[in-house]
Formats: sequence, structure tokens, C-alpha cells
Amino acid sequence: MKKISVLFVCLGNICRSPAAEAIFMSLIEKKGLTDGFIVDSAGTGSWHIGKKADSRMRTAAERRDINILSRARQITNKDFDEFNYILAMDDSNFRNIQDLKNRTASAGFASIKKIQDFRSVFNEQEVPDPYFGGEEGFDYVLDILEDSVNGFLESIS
Ligand code: 4NP
Repeated sequence: MKKISVLFVCLGNICRSPAAEAIFMSLIEKKGLTDGFIVDSAGTGSWHIGKKADSRMRTAAERRDINILSRARQITNKDFDEFNYILAMDDSNFRNIQDLKNRTASAGFASIKKIQDFRSVFNEQEVPDPYFGGEEGFDYVLDILEDSVNGFLESIS
């Protein structure tokens, strides 16, 4: 069967989207669905290419038994042809992804959405950027992503 491919996207690809990617991987593993998916994350910006996720986010995730292993990369034109779903963390990411898509020759087949469209418990319409804030911001991002990432999986299964 053809795999479903999912790309989570934020600005730097070191805080929110690597966390969303790891939460999604942990969820599909628990449900025995790992073989049905290709999962990745990327940033709209290029500053952190090749870096591990922010250590504050990795530590907060480890407390929940979630391992964030990804290395940062920047979204590319090819992603629009390779992923079924591209999920933005906030409105600015969403607009930047749409702009990039509109500048590419290929129309692409990816469905581009905001991850918070799939929220049910938390009311946040965007995943707040925790980078310049305190420790608690990282836990909050994980809380709201656990809710919306779960909602996304339910929406496609
Ligand atoms: P992210 O957070 O988009 O969730 O990875 C950020 C990481 C780095 C920066 C901004 C946001 N930065 O300005 O370097």
C-alpha cells in the first residue's frame, strides 16, 4: 500500500516542527501504523540547517518519553510534489509555504494546512514560537501539539 507522507513545518525547524514530527512518530508507533507513513519536518528559514533540535525542546520531550532525533533542513520546491500533507505551525509559516508554492513551476499535490486546524482540547489557533521564551513555553508547545497532532491522525484514519 502507498505510504502517506506528512511534513511538519515551522520557522527554524529546531523547536515546534521537530516536536510535532516526534509526537506524530510516537503516536503512529503506539498504534502500529509506522509502516504506513513517511514523516519529516522542515523550516521556512535557513539559519539552523543541519542542527539538532533546540536542547530545551529535546529535554522537555524526553520527559514525556518522546525522542527528537531530527536535524534541521529548509523546505524546498520538491516537498510540494513529495508530501501528501504539509502542516504549518502558525499563520506566518502557512503564508510563507503558500508563497513558496506559488513561486514554483510545479503545482504540487500536497495539501497545505495549519496543524491547529485539528485541535480539540486547546483553543490556540497557532503553535506559539517558544524560542525566545522560558522553559514552560516548551512544555506548552508539547501539550498543544499532542492534542492537534492526534486530531490530525484521526482526521486521516
Ligand atoms: P521554531 O522556533 O520555528 O519552532 O524552530 C524558532 C527557532 C529559531 C528561531 C526562531 C524560531 N530563530 O530566530 O533563530
